[in-house]
Amino acid sequence: MSSKVSMEKIVSLCKRRGFVFPSSEIYGGLASCWDYGPMGVELKRNIKDAWWRTVVQEREDVVGLETSIMMHPKVWEASGHVASFTDPLVECKSCHLRWRATEVDSNKCPKCGGELTEPRMFNLMFKTLMGPVEDEAGTIYLRPETAQGMFVNFENAVTISRKKLPLGSAQIGKSFRNEITPGNFIFRTREFEHMELEYFVKPDTAKYWFDYWVRERFNWYVTLGIDKENLRLRQHGKEELAHYAEDCYDIEYSFPMGWSELEGIANRGDYDLTQHAECSGRDLSYYDNESGQRYIPYIIEPSAGVERSFLAFLIDAYQEETVEGETRVVLRLCPSLAPIKVAVLPLSRNEKLTPLAREIHKQLRPNFMTWYDDSQSIGRRYRRQDEVGTPFCVTIDFQSLEDRQVTIRDRDSLAQIRVPIGELEKTLRTKLSGEPFDVSSLWATRQK
Ligand code: GAP
Repeated sequence: MSSKVSMEKIVSLCKRRGFVFPSSEIYGGLASCWDYGPMGVELKRNIKDAWWRTVVQEREDVVGLETSIMMHPKVWEASGHVASFTDPLVECKSCHLRWRATEVDSNKCPKCGGELTEPRMFNLMFKTLMGPVEDEAGTIYLRPETAQGMFVNFENAVTISRKKLPLGSAQIGKSFRNEITPGNFIFRTREFEHMELEYFVKPDTAKYWFDYWVRERFNWYVTLGIDKENLRLRQHGKEELAHYAEDCYDIEYSFPMGWSELEGIANRGDYDLTQHAECSGRDLSYYDNESGQRYIPYIIEPSAGVERSFLAFLIDAYQEETVEGETRVVLRLCPSLAPIKVAVLPLSRNEKLTPLAREIHKQLRPNFMTWYDDSQSIGRRYRRQDEVGTPFCVTIDFQSLEDRQVTIRDRDSLAQIRVPIGELEKTLRTKLSGEPFDVSSLWATRQK
């Protein structure tokens, strides 16, 4: 059931190779807050770009939005978050650690064995004050989901896009939750990024679109390289459904700590638009020209977390293998997600090689995310690129000075091909889009 690599190994790789660092580390870190380094920030961007491309760019029926993190406090009353966005909390009477009641099996503290209090409901929204006067009237919330920004803009999305239903609004942005027990590295944090689609549909088509989006979203992870065996769907039981949901499936991934939620797809019914219509006094019904009916649309919502996807992609890509008696750690990330697409590596820091290597790097930089590295042995530099999942390394050697050809090394097969510098960009582009290495033209295979 559990995946092949431990969380410790992933955390260590993330730190060592510049994916993720503890936040405010020089002050001892801040619980559950993380900073993303040069590799992490690229991986995150690539995940978000892949989502946006599939959910917005390639579709005619979805438009993008970016709404404010801070919203009118009434939004959160209407949405039900003030009353119901809670987790049951228990506290240890001895060590005062707090736990989600659903996480503990008995009334003993898992840390010290002390007696636990009775559960009380704890609201997960962060409160803050807006404006210079510190009074209750200025209390606002940091959004715990991006969804509400899209519900309150439903009219704008329909009017501006001049499109008919079904129509979706999509958004990527930060959300905040004062989780009782964050943890498992970046799996559960208090600040994270949501990728959410709110797909507005005619009520009697909701079941069809719900099933459609469950399938689409499951396949998105598979297309981007996650092994199907490590994914599964789990339908929520009635008692587990969020206050707004009529039905919900989780896409679960086999994380090192066990099967856990990667993304949720909910049928939110007409709950949200009905609530906002009632509380704002605005008519949020939709007139459907085709059926001649007026109705409050139902909402199908695929809601994913950037960091959880990041973690799942890393874990699934991680492999250790033995090459010529040595262990090689390699991230077999899908090329479109890989932080660096091409590394430029002169065979050594020799003054004759550097100018050509620099020239090639300059030529590639506008076209691909690249990395230039001339420190330490070529074998070590290959290993570093394998560990961050770089699909291709371009090596410049002394022969390159004579024949203006360079070597491309493939991360996965370790095969190497020799190409003229003039054809390098085109070759890299076709290889990155999935063209396999032509084994007949192998210059040298499985070199370290
Ligand atoms: N608008 C619906 C919604 O927010 P959710 O199931 O609470 O639904 C959706 O969250 C996704 O957001 C989760 O599947 C997960 O990927 C991510 N997520 C939620 N809480 C998170 C947290 N505290 N830390 C990291 N990611 C989180």
